[in-house]
Amino acid sequence: MPKLTTPAIASGCLGGMDQPSIHVGTSAILRPWTYDDAPAVVEAFRDPSIQRWHVRRADSIDEARNWLTQWRDGWASESECHWAIAAPETNELLGRIAAKGVNLWDGTAELAYWMTPAARGRGLCTQAVTALSEWAFRDAGFHRLELEHSIHNPRSCRVATKAGFSEEGVRRGSARHADGWHDMHVHARLRSDQPSATTRAARASV
Ligand SMILES: CC(C)(COP(=O)(O)OP(=O)(O)OC[C@H]1O[C@@H](n2cnc3c(N)ncnc32)[C@H](O)[C@@H]1OP(=O)(O)O)[C@@H](O)C(=O)NCCC(=O)NCCS
Repeated sequence: MPKLTTPAIASGCLGGMDQPSIHVGTSAILRPWTYDDAPAVVEAFRDPSIQRWHVRRADSIDEARNWLTQWRDGWASESECHWAIAAPETNELLGRIAAKGVNLWDGTAELAYWMTPAARGRGLCTQAVTALSEWAFRDAGFHRLELEHSIHNPRSCRVATKAGFSEEGVRRGSARHADGWHDMHVHARLRSDQPSATTRAARASV
């Protein structure tokens, strides 16, 4: 049955090109993952708050390498796009950001992130969300990006708000964590939304 709309992002647009690196001001870069990142991913998942909010742990470098394969394959299959957040000078791993659940037809995806403990509290996650959103709306043709976090994770809520993701409500009992079902707070940003204060500040500093 013919569709009455056209896709927001044509099939092959993302997977047909090399995954880009995206600058986050001068303080970080979003770059594709490499297998050399596996030890740093294992180390990051020793952090109790990453385990808590991402509901898994990494027990070995081989396990992390398997994730890295999935994260890299997601770009080619246009299903999910994963980046490492790294220090531009040293390439040290600072965190992870991803656009999961990509729907090319509607131009939608859901952002997810974590930062290593040493990289937190400097505004970097907010800047990474802002930079990825700018790329997604301006260069990739996304229409809507969602972001959701447990109602017990106020830091993540703050990141979402600072990055211009409006609050849309709470999905009750929608995500299972190690301590049970959590209500999830939904945020979203549309391409047509006004830029966030963080985006305006980043543009002004260029
Ligand atoms: C959530 C996380 C990614 C934030 O990374 P970050 O680089 O420290 O984030 P930013 O520095 O950009 O912003 C953090 C904001 O939260 C605020 N914050 C910190 N602790 C807070 C708390 N307990 N309650 C409310 N706000 C808090 C900070 O003050 C800052 O806001 P401000 O700039 O207005 O002062 C990081 O803490 C993390 O990786 N946590 C563990 C994994 C996780 O929670 N992932 C998200 C799952 S949805």
